[in-house]
Amino acid sequence: MSGKSLQIEDAARGVGLSFHADKLEMSFRSPRDNVTLSATVPMTSVPPQDEAGQVKIAERAARALPQATRIVNAIAQWLVSSREDTNHTYHLTSRNLAHLSHHLAMVLKASAKDMAAYMAEAMDDAGLAAHVAAMTAKQPQALRAVTDSVPRFGRRLGWYAVARVLKPRLIVETGVDKGLGGVLLCAALLRNAAEGHPGRYIGTEIRPEAGYLIAEPYAAVGRVAYGDSLTTLKGIGEPIDLFINDSDHSVDYEAEEYRAIAPRLQDGSMIISDNAHASDALLRFAEETGRRFTFFREQPQDHWYPGCGIGFAYR
Ligand SMILES: C[S@@+](CC[C@H](N)C(=O)[O-])C[C@H]1O[C@@H](n2cnc3c(N)ncnc32)[C@H](O)[C@@H]1O
Repeated sequence: MSGKSLQIEDAARGVGLSFHADKLEMSFRSPRDNVTLSATVPMTSVPPQDEAGQVKIAERAARALPQATRIVNAIAQWLVSSREDTNHTYHLTSRNLAHLSHHLAMVLKASAKDMAAYMAEAMDDAGLAAHVAAMTAKQPQALRAVTDSVPRFGRRLGWYAVARVLKPRLIVETGVDKGLGGVLLCAALLRNAAEGHPGRYIGTEIRPEAGYLIAEPYAAVGRVAYGDSLTTLKGIGEPIDLFINDSDHSVDYEAEEYRAIAPRLQDGSMIISDNAHASDALLRFAEETGRRFTFFREQPQDHWYPGCGIGFAYR
């Protein structure tokens, strides 16, 4: 650059690049997301000097930058439309839901159409949505201030479909939080019972204020066992048909949970990890116990959070 600066303005693409001897200033105005971004970085290599190179760098910037504005736009939307600051909830994109139907069909040896129908059953359950809204409204202000009253089940819809297909007699979920996954699983159990397949839900939770969604009518089939998850799991003496790990997300604790429930598992048991996007604990457990392992990655719709997924271990 020999001390001279080079300006590239591509108004059509919304890209502005200003190369100086020691830094690059970049700006981007995204009409689609209504977001303006700018960044300044130190110059670490010589920028393109010729005409073709200049055009190409604006093109390349315009190809990459919308990835960032999509997230920034979602963050801005989230700031004004959600109160949540942890355990974020969101809907899945319709394509991701279709992929989940097919993934479940493969794991459960069922039809993707039936899987989609089960998930639609949960999404269309007006009584369940009203319950979540009503129970949220009853919570203390400090909790309401960080809670959305509209249920957005995301990947938990996959848990629901598993519960509807397997008709489990006992579901254990570790880590309940408000109870969004728990109440959804109880809703599945109520439907199973109405079809002649009764079952129970036990959620483990260390915080006494958690689990408020597990209330009537869902409390008829489910309860929260308060205390450390491992202690509760070691006290369960009957077969577990569906197990969902979602408590302490450290890899060691997760692995310890699988070891604790191993004697309670049967060939037909399904083990789900809500941590499989970040840990290999379930994968390892599956390998050690002669089970298959597969992972479904969720894709949140209109949310900045990248999503997690569902780890499945089964025979
Ligand atoms: C990610 S949240 C669970 C989300 C819930 N499964 C859902 O569907 O929304 C994790 C929960 O695990 C609880 N937890 C953390 N460590 C625990 C432990 N050792 N024993 C029991 N619960 C624990 C936390 O209090 C928190 O509510």
